[in-house]
Order: sequence, then structure tokens, then C-alpha cells
Amino acid sequence: MVEKLKIVGGNPLHGEVSISGAKNAVLKLMAAAILPQGESIIHNVPQLTDVNIMLRVIEELGVKTKYDKASKTVAIDATDITSITAKYELVSKMRASFIILGALVTRCKEAIVALPGGCAIGERRVDFHIKGLEALGADIKIENGYVHAKAQRLVGTDIYLDIPSVGATENLMLAAVLAEGATRIQNAAQEPEIVDLANFLNAMGADISGAGTSEIIINGVKQENLHPIEYTTIPDRIEAGTYMAAIIATKGKGIIKNVLPSHLTFFNSKLIKMGANIKLIEPTVLEVSCNQRLNSVNIVTQPYPGFPTDLQSLAMAMLTTADGVSIITESLYENRFMQVPELRRMGADIHQERNHALVRGVEKLAGTNVKASDLRAGASLIVAALMAEGKSEIEALHHIDRGYELFETKFANLGANIVRYNDESDTLANASLELNKENLNASV
Ligand code: EPU
Repeated sequence: MVEKLKIVGGNPLHGEVSISGAKNAVLKLMAAAILPQGESIIHNVPQLTDVNIMLRVIEELGVKTKYDKASKTVAIDATDITSITAKYELVSKMRASFIILGALVTRCKEAIVALPGGCAIGERRVDFHIKGLEALGADIKIENGYVHAKAQRLVGTDIYLDIPSVGATENLMLAAVLAEGATRIQNAAQEPEIVDLANFLNAMGADISGAGTSEIIINGVKQENLHPIEYTTIPDRIEAGTYMAAIIATKGKGIIKNVLPSHLTFFNSKLIKMGANIKLIEPTVLEVSCNQRLNSVNIVTQPYPGFPTDLQSLAMAMLTTADGVSIITESLYENRFMQVPELRRMGADIHQERNHALVRGVEKLAGTNVKASDLRAGASLIVAALMAEGKSEIEALHHIDRGYELFETKFANLGANIVRYNDESDTLANASLELNKENLNASV
């Protein structure tokens, strides 16, 4: 059954949207929850395919898990771990599950975790994870596509990362929590999700300082010093940026609730340069609006606190109708311009050469059929469809379901003419689309 999204664009979005818990934080907290014996509780866990996959990875270790969707709470009881293997069938579905390697090898002294392989947006190697674990004293063999790591004892050391990799920083932090002595990760990633993981681990009894800077120090503690905890994860800055992009690009006005504006400093400064208005209403509430054609801006993606690569495709969609020419440089991934051919189908004028894209603003986009190739490219197509005149249909929604909780409901609450349907309910979808349009006309 092929699900599609039908959007009738060209109308400004208005209203309120509340941001869910951060996918890229919560997945790592779930891995960290297997370190102590006993049941940890994580709040603010979004309903996402990726969360379900991580739950399955953890369950296959013999760990008990419970996800209460109503309260968005996950309980993870790692009193007993009966398996040390994370299978390819799951790891290949979600690369982030490779994070279980560091946690398993430090808790169980042995781990067998599938290598995740490539991905639509780039090669995404895991060599820093492996070299870092070896530096901590793990004996690592790559056998039949699996990483087999053994370590009777991990010993803290200095580790320098060639690139401030988010995943490698997290995997090594997890492994170092129970190592003997101090581990210093230099050129560490500084993303808010790293800080959230360090806060989670410290609340459990770990001793980590410097998270959020380029040097993180982990003083190893003993297993018996760790205890299960109850913890609430941070809001998803990329989801917040996505709704901000959609409201601004459609020249609407909206309230973004449950957002931490300090996590979006660089993105917000670019939005303001584009001509958007961003007002802090409360510490976790922003009002965003725009009533002009956007200005063109240049963007270079960088590790945090630079412009986030995960919002690059969203910015590109916005700039397709900006006044002038924008140059976008993607410096983290080799293949993160997958949205370009689809945006062109909607009338965008984009010239791409290697990791640079030159976006010449056109008057307007026109709705058409497009296909999501990955999570953020998919999100950018939603924004483009909302900007475009007429009807668009977006295919391959499973990519978008990985990272955006209840997205069609949230967009519909902002007044978007959006409906998910499958081939069988096509007629129904058309009817409800007409209905949405009527409601919208009535409320304008
Ligand atoms: N890299 C290596 N070797 C390594 C590790 C990374 O060469 O051992 C390279 C990668 O190939 C990539 C760059 O370093 O070119 C950065 O990768 P990083 O390790 O920082 O990314 P990640 O941990 O795999 C996380 C997010 C991504 C986000 C990046 C960058 C999760 C689950 N994923 O990935 O999020 O783009 O950090 O901020 O946390 C998304 O949510 O759509 C998404 C892709």
C-alpha cells in the first residue's frame, strides 16, 4: 500500500505548533539507558519509526522496554542483558543504532554490532568510532560485516577526532563512562544532543565535563556507581526549524512552542537576513512571521554551532522563490542535495556542482508529483509544496515518518491543506482536501 501526501499550496500558514522531543537526542539516551542495572524512564519521546527501531535493537539484547505513546514515555529496564548482538536487519534500517556498540562493550565487555553500510545522503563511515574504541583498549575485529569488540577493561586516554563527528563523540562518551581513568575527546562534536547525553549520563552517576565544547572529559566510574534515572529529553531543534521555515516561506505567522531558541541561533540569524521576523515571546516560545518576498542569502553547512546540515534542504526550498541568487554549500555530506531534482520539477532554478548549489529565485513554484529520497529532503518537499501554487503529491513518506512526529496533523493545525492517503482512499482524500479548502477559506 503506497501512501502519499496531497498538499494544495499557496496559502500562508497561521497558528501554533508544539515541538516534540529531539529524535537525535532520544535515540542516544535509549542506548545510554542500558548502562545501569534497573529501569530508567525517558519522557518526551516522539512517536517515530526510528524510535521503534531503537526499541527493537535494545529488546533484542534481552533488555525490557515499554513505550507508553499517550504519555510519550519509554521505560528501559536493563537489569539483565542476555545478548550482545545488534543484527544487520535492524542496524541497516537505522544507522544511529550503531551507538549501541560503545554502551554494550563497556557494560558487557563484548559486543557484536553490524556495520551500518552506506546511506542515501553519503558514505557515512564509522572509522572514528572504531579507532576511538581501539584507543580505549578494545580489541576490534571486523568479521562478515560485523564489528566484534572485546574489552576486559577499557582504559581512559586522549582521543582526537579528525572531524567533530556527532555519532563518534557519543559512542566514545558511552564507552568511556565505565573505563578506568580519564578520557579526553578533543575536537568533539558540540551539538545540543551531545550535551543532553552528557546530562543524562551525569544524572546516572557518570562524571563528564566539557560537553558542548570541543573538549569533553570523561572520568570513568564503576558500574555500581551508576543508577537508573527519570529524564526528559530536549525539544527537536530540526523539527522546530522545519515549521519555522514553512511558516516564513508561506508568508504566514505562527507560534512555535516548546523550542529552545539558543539551539537555533545560526539558523535564526539566516532567517532574519532572509527578511523574517522572529520574536521571543517566552523562554521556550517563538513567534515567527514574514510579509515580504525573501531575500537571497548564502549558506555553508557546518558542525554545531554553524548552520545545521539537517536544515540545509529546508533553507533551499525557502530560497527557491527569494529575490536574487543564493549559494548553498553542503560541507558535511557528499550527497545531501537529493531534493534538487524534485525542487526543479516544481519550477525551481537550481544549478548544482558537487557540494555547491546556486539557487536563482523564481517568482513562484508550481505544484506537481515529487518523491522523498531521505528524511530532510522529504521535509523540504513539504515546504516547497506548501509554497507552490496548486496541488502536489509527495511519495515515499516512510522517510519523513522517521523523524517528524504527526507531521500532517501539525501542518494541518497550521492551516495547511494537507492530507495523507493511500491509493484505496484516494477518493476520500480528494473529498477531505476540498473540505479543508472550504474551512481555510471560511477562516481567512
Ligand atoms: N564521519 C566519518 N567517519 C566517522 C564518523 C563520521 O568520516 O567515523 C563523517 C560522516 O561520513 C559525515 C561527517 O563525518 O560526512 C559527519 O557525520 P557525524 O558522525 O557527525 O553524523 P552522524 O552522527 O552520523 C548525526 C545525526 C544526523 C546529522 C549529523 C550531523 C543522528 C542520529 N544523526 O549523524 O542527522 O546530520 O549528526 O549533524 O544523530 C537527520 O536527522 O536527518 C540526520 C541525518
